[in-house]
Amino acid sequence: MPSLQRLTDTAVSKLLTEHALLHELLVEADRVTIEADSAEALILGLQELREMMHDQFAREEYGGYLQETVAIAPRYSSECEQLRHEHRLLLSDIDAMLDELTQDPDGTLGTFHVRFREFTTCFLSHEHHENAVVQKALDDDIGVGD
Ligand SMILES: [Fe+2]
Repeated sequence: MPSLQRLTDTAVSKLLTEHALLHELLVEADRVTIEADSAEALILGLQELREMMHDQFAREEYGGYLQETVAIAPRYSSECEQLRHEHRLLLSDIDAMLDELTQDPDGTLGTFHVRFREFTTCFLSHEHHENAVVQKALDDDIGVGD
């Protein structure tokens, strides 16, 4: 189905573009977590990151690659549901970091960059997971899968 394939290519290219933007933001946030000498700066940066991730996840879920993947390859619907669940977990983790910084800024600040890198690792693992699901669905759809 050529028209569906074109639509999917658009969703995938949007996904990769958004991943690239978030990577830049994560690199910047990582620098801030090392250099920050106040919890306020980290809280502001984290709130911005949360807003961008929330919006990106919403785009992925509604009209983006997740919706298209389920449409062209329904057998991946449970994997797509797991990816949606990971979105919720990632946002909850940012909320937990915000709570820690707000409730105990002095105790949290010294080791915050380690905590943030754990989050970044989870986020990159999620991205890897979604790229793999999309690639499998595309390969199946155009018949070049193994
Ligand atoms: Fe995602």
